[in-house]
Amino acid sequence: MASLDPSEIESMPLAAIDVSDPLLHQRDLARSYFRRLRREDPVHYCADSKFGPYWSVTRYADILHVDMNHQTYSSDGTVVLDDAFFSGGHIENEVSKTSFIVMDPPHHGPRRSIVIPALSPGNIQKMEAGIRERTRQLLDSLPIGEEFDWVSEVSIELTLRMLAILMGFPFEERHKLLYWSNVQSGAPGDGVVESWEHRSAVMREIAERFTRLLNEKIDAPASADLMSVLAKSPLTQEMRPEEFLGTITLLMTGGNDTTRNSMSGSILAMHQFPDEFAKLKADPSLVPVAVSEILRWQCPVSYMRRTATENSELGGKTIRKGDKVVMWYLSGNRDEGMYERPEDFIIGRPNPRQHLTFGFGIHRCLGNRLAELQLRVLWEEILPRFDRIEVTGDPVRIHSTMFRGFSALPVRLHRS
Ligand code: HEM
Repeated sequence: MASLDPSEIESMPLAAIDVSDPLLHQRDLARSYFRRLRREDPVHYCADSKFGPYWSVTRYADILHVDMNHQTYSSDGTVVLDDAFFSGGHIENEVSKTSFIVMDPPHHGPRRSIVIPALSPGNIQKMEAGIRERTRQLLDSLPIGEEFDWVSEVSIELTLRMLAILMGFPFEERHKLLYWSNVQSGAPGDGVVESWEHRSAVMREIAERFTRLLNEKIDAPASADLMSVLAKSPLTQEMRPEEFLGTITLLMTGGNDTTRNSMSGSILAMHQFPDEFAKLKADPSLVPVAVSEILRWQCPVSYMRRTATENSELGGKTIRKGDKVVMWYLSGNRDEGMYERPEDFIIGRPNPRQHLTFGFGIHRCLGNRLAELQLRVLWEEILPRFDRIEVTGDPVRIHSTMFRGFSALPVRLHRS
């Protein structure tokens, strides 16, 4: 296990560095380990971790290479470090295996194509007015000058409102999306999932509710939401029930923690770099480039894992067939070879959309335009309303290797 003492990061033996430990991420120490690995051992082998041996790929160019070469670095079966997550014979794991994020060609493409129309730029544009309206309502209801938690009051709530619009899910039932998504990505003992049986029961409830919604949409007039798009697509009829559920839960969980944490991260970034906030306030036309920098800097998905299908060379190292290969997007986004002052939040960097936050290649995030839209609308609506969003205490980071985010962020709004 890597040391949790920051003073030991530079001196500990390279072979002892294990960046998979969620505590390193919760204490925001992983970034310092990545800096060292990029410099001294950019394709790093960890022989012994809680998840078994794995490779860490930490430089931008190498990550791009792995993500673009799906024949050699496969997504088949899993994209997380923990092999147990997708195995064990539970119903919910069978469903997870039917998500196209854990498929290679030729299975991946046709399933991805089914949801592409719902997340196309043109379709997302149709959702903008609804997202803006719900964002305005929420921001207008916030207290001025009083401390409150941005994560629960704003990030979680806005993400749910957006997901309800995307999925065509009843607005008043939106909190179920949060619960279901937490159960789907959870495990017994995490405070949400009581047992595997409990999780299976919730998965059945999700299947039942979404099948009912789909059937309602079949006869309703066509609209831009995902369930309507699925209902009107002949390809949906060919899906097995567990495949349908796998697709729904992928979209529900894929868009949840990620979007939420990018919103909270944006507040922390503007607080830690007040000159950048002032720049944005003075020139709101910078919001789109600010959004890209928020995504680079926060990087809500720290990594994606691949499995080597053959022996290959990467960064002078030999990766063997069957090895786990982890692309650390969080590290690539802070690669000194790509970015000047990579740890700083700077609005207006050259090529702002070049970050790795949404991955690259055939699995590149399908929701990227929607996530950008939500962040753009949020900041376009924040700027005329508030003069400062003060972070009043330490942010509470989540205990996760994969998701980089916050469970609490105390703030106070100021208006002159
Ligand atoms: C895939 C990040 C929001 C749906 C991915 C991947 C990443 C990612 C890193 C994997 C890329 C790869 O393996 O190359 C993010 C981040 C988001 C976000 C950081 C927000 C800031 C969303 C939203 C949705 C969504 C809002 C939809 C509701 C998906 C889907 C995939 C995916 C369906 C699988 C694509 C495939 O396997 O072909 N996302 N995502 N994501 N994301 Fe997102």
